Amino acid sequence: MTRFNPPALEIQDVDSFYGELQVLRKASLRLQQREVVVLFGPNGHGKSTLLKAIAGIHPAAAGSIRYLGEEISRTPSAQIVEMGVAYIPEARNLFTDMTVGENLRLGAYNRRARSQVAQNLAYVFDLFPRLAERRDQIAATLSGGESRMLAVGRGLMSGAALLLIDEPSIGLSPIMKRAVFGAIAKIKSARDIAVLMVEQEVEHPLRLADRVYLLKKGRVILEKPAAEINKAEIEQAYF
Ligand SMILES: Nc1ncnc2c1ncn2[C@@H]1O[C@H](COP(=O)(O)OP(=O)(O)OP(=O)(O)O)[C@@H](O)[C@H]1O
Ligand SMILES: [Mg+2]
Repeated sequence: MTRFNPPALEIQDVDSFYGELQVLRKASLRLQQREVVVLFGPNGHGKSTLLKAIAGIHPAAAGSIRYLGEEISRTPSAQIVEMGVAYIPEARNLFTDMTVGENLRLGAYNRRARSQVAQNLAYVFDLFPRLAERRDQIAATLSGGESRMLAVGRGLMSGAALLLIDEPSIGLSPIMKRAVFGAIAKIKSARDIAVLMVEQEVEHPLRLADRVYLLKKGRVILEKPAAEINKAEIEQAYF
């Protein structure tokens, strides 16, 4: 059951716990189709937990999560992937003893992507020429930036309509940051895809995003168009 042109994602009043510890408190946010949204917030305030709730890795205890109009808060993670949601965790999560090419192909193991492997592979190599050059290299030997590219590439191989990316720029050099954010900008202009990105780095994502949310103590405390907020305001809100 999907409504006409539903939002890519609608999160309403999500609570999440680890044992007794409540990490998300009625967190709510929304992404339109093809929208790029950044979620900022201080360390340990629940950003990764929110992505894990959407991906079904650590399901929400309460609240609603709708993807293209469909409730997924109780849906198993494998099925959420199958529906077109790619989650790229902060930890790189690559198959380190396999090559770049093999890792990418494994990103397309789900039913919806299987028929488009060649097409998606060409797209990923076009986006990240560096991965094309290294397609036969073992993933364990990639640099930090190349590993991030591979993780994003693998998400794209699944043919996703919603990309959840946890801190794509963490630990990268300025040049590698630019490469990764440049690729996300290209994805934004070329693909029929919505992106929800968690970041610590503020400047690049602000230029890239349509809208910004701020999560503090498990609550979404601010929502603004990216053009209407600056770095100082965001950092001030952390305290
Ligand atoms: N598996 C877990 N078991 C117990 N507590 C956890 C677990 N994962 C996260 N937490 C706790 O939940 C809180 C929120 O963690 P989360 O990873 O969502 O924060 P974050 O906003 O992504 O932080 P960072 O910016 O450092 O990545 C933290 O206090 C963290 O210690
Ligand atoms: Mg995190």
